[in-house]
Amino acid sequence: MNQKIGHKLSGPGPMGPAGPPRKSVTMIADIGAAIASCSFRTAGMVVIPCSVGTLADMTCFSFHPVKHITTGEGGLVTTDDDALASKLRMFRTHGITKDPTALTRDEGPWYYEQHVLGFNYRITDFQCALGSSQLKRAGAFVRARRALAAAYGRALEGWEDVTGAVERPWARHSYHLYPIRLAQPRRRRAVFEGLRARGFGVQVHYIPVHLQPYYRRVLGTRPGMCPRAEAFYAAEISLPVFPQMKPADVRRVVAALREEV
Ligand SMILES: Cc1ncc(COP(=O)(O)O)c(C=O)c1O
Repeated sequence: MNQKIGHKLSGPGPMGPAGPPRKSVTMIADIGAAIASCSFRTAGMVVIPCSVGTLADMTCFSFHPVKHITTGEGGLVTTDDDALASKLRMFRTHGITKDPTALTRDEGPWYYEQHVLGFNYRITDFQCALGSSQLKRAGAFVRARRALAAAYGRALEGWEDVTGAVERPWARHSYHLYPIRLAQPRRRRAVFEGLRARGFGVQVHYIPVHLQPYYRRVLGTRPGMCPRAEAFYAAEISLPVFPQMKPADVRRVVAALREEV
């Protein structure tokens, strides 16, 4: 795959919401950099606290409405690499630069040049105003989500049919979702439909990207290439988590789950 897309990928690919952060070229994260906290284990077993937005060369954050903080749509990319940052800025605005050190000539103060093919990927100022205000509440949102996840963990404890979310000692999960895995994946569809019919907003996250028709066509990916991701997908259901939920809501979800499984 690396050869086909022409980039060197180091380590595992993008991170899903159910997994701990990993060092990789590009990471997908679901939480604002200022509030995410994680730890990185070195060979000497020293645990270094760091933020998820600083682990990879570039980290993409989604501010879709279901996320910890939202701008309605859109997101951001963090990087500490100046060259990547300047490419990202150019890509965001049609591949255009106004950086005097990058221009091939100077025709006047209005002058800009298009150096690559980019698109209009700009988030609006209105959305950013919402995002800035959301960011102030992000810590409280994550605390509420973690409390709900703890309640899910307690409610599911000791139940062999269902495995709850697993948190590694060196990473702090922010619970954009609460992913469970069913011991009997063939029951997944019936359980999912049963919970939806009762009005619970469950979802499945995510369909492995290599199984999508686009990647199958363009990169030749196929089932069996990522067996662990495929096994996870086959058994997974995401239970609702949002800061306004109460522990009693968690108990209602789990009671319904027990009846459906
Ligand atoms: C850009 C984007 N769109 C949509 C979604 C939501 O997808 P789903 O409806 O499968 O939860 C997410 C996050 O999960 C997202 O980041």
